[in-house]
Amino acid sequence: MEIPDISAYDRILIGSPIWCGTIPNAVFSFLDKVNLNGKKAAIFTTSVATEPQKIAVKIKKKYSAKWCRPFNANHATDENITDWLK
Ligand SMILES: Cc1cc2nc3c(=O)[nH]c(=O)nc-3n(C[C@H](O)[C@H](O)[C@H](O)COP(=O)(O)O)c2cc1C
Repeated sequence: MEIPDISAYDRILIGSPIWCGTIPNAVFSFLDKVNLNGKKAAIFTTSVATEPQKIAVKIKKKYSAKWCRPFNANHATDENITDWLK
């Protein structure tokens, strides 16, 4: 997997589905390779039932970043998304 150069960015949003209660290995591989140290980062999911908070706790322990509140974008309105982005 080719990892983009994110050095010029301060804020990184990571979007993911949830499969069988967790994020797919491809997303973990991305997190293993990308350096989020010192960056503001947040995860949003498109999951149906599993809340992203569960995943966020795991990610926060494993990967260093200034983690912000996670968000489930499934059925979110434009207003929900704008509020979260603030
Ligand atoms: C194999 C599989 C397992 C899934 N497991 C979960 C799950 O444990 N919790 C959940 O809320 N959604 C689950 N979903 C729903 C996906 O999170 C949802 O379909 C996806 O985020 C929507 O994005 P997509 O259009 O890329 O599939 C699962 C979907 C698939 C295909």
